[in-house]
Amino acid sequence: MSYGMIATWRMAYDGIRVGIVDLANCGSSQKAIVDAIKIVEDYPFYKSVGYGGLPNEVGLVELDAAFMNGDNFDIGAVAGSRNVKNPIVVAEKLSHERFNSFLVGDGVAKYASKEGFELRNMLTERAKKTWENRLEEMSKSNLSPYDGHDTVSMVALDQHGSMSCGTSSSGLFMKKEGRTGDSPLSGSGFYVDSEIGGATATGLGEDLMKGCLSYETVRLMSTGLTPQEAVNQATMTFVKKLERRKGKCGAFSLVAMNNQGEWGVATNVEFSFVVATDRLSPTIYLAYPAEDDGYPTIEVASHEWLDAYQARITAPIK
Ligand code: GLY
Repeated sequence: MSYGMIATWRMAYDGIRVGIVDLANCGSSQKAIVDAIKIVEDYPFYKSVGYGGLPNEVGLVELDAAFMNGDNFDIGAVAGSRNVKNPIVVAEKLSHERFNSFLVGDGVAKYASKEGFELRNMLTERAKKTWENRLEEMSKSNLSPYDGHDTVSMVALDQHGSMSCGTSSSGLFMKKEGRTGDSPLSGSGFYVDSEIGGATATGLGEDLMKGCLSYETVRLMSTGLTPQEAVNQATMTFVKKLERRKGKCGAFSLVAMNNQGEWGVATNVEFSFVVATDRLSPTIYLAYPAEDDGYPTIEVASHEWLDAYQARITAPIK
């Protein structure tokens, strides 16, 4: 039986390496998603997810996450989570609740604490310094403060034919207190149906949630389209529509996998992603948007690109 995972951004790589071993050993897609995203949340140099994520405009780290089970459509989600070490673990736990399965703000830490999950201060010195630097830049210029909405999001298929997906994000850097994006919103940041496939997103949440693109990608797969056809049609049709109707469209990148382990991606910006299947060892790719609304150009990330990435994310903050 085929199995596999696909995830947004280079930062997913170490997590996918662990998740794909779960799947190779006949583990569940649920476990693969939680194990993989937890690793990303714990790495302090990823500035848009988990520990080390950049804070909001008042210096507080507020995190969003979601988990979905494609067998029974169970969803758990958190938004504006503070001081909870692993939002994805709490989201997965919430997905088993019949009621109260989407918690926001203080309610997340209260639930996590009651259920015995680890709490911690999620603000690193590095993230605090980046925030202080941005405040200083903003006091000197009129530049938009917003930046960095890179969500880790992924879809997994296990050997039993079950599919799951998950997301985790600190959202927009310098966001307003209480702001949330697409990542915890079903149909926008994620959607999965084990009888069809799944899709997840990264990009500007305020625009992504206008198109419900993860749901639309899965719906298109159900009509017989391949993951590449479905995700490209859903994404690029809406990018064009938003540009026409609103005059602009934020960054959109989506990944998709069907229940055969076939995959696809769509993007309107340069974007890295990771894939691993029973036929492909974990591989980091780069996708470049097409000039028109065609398929992106996809290439394996070079050693030079990977070295430059690692140097950039770990460079000292002055
Ligand atoms: N896509 C993440 C966010 O906008 O918060």
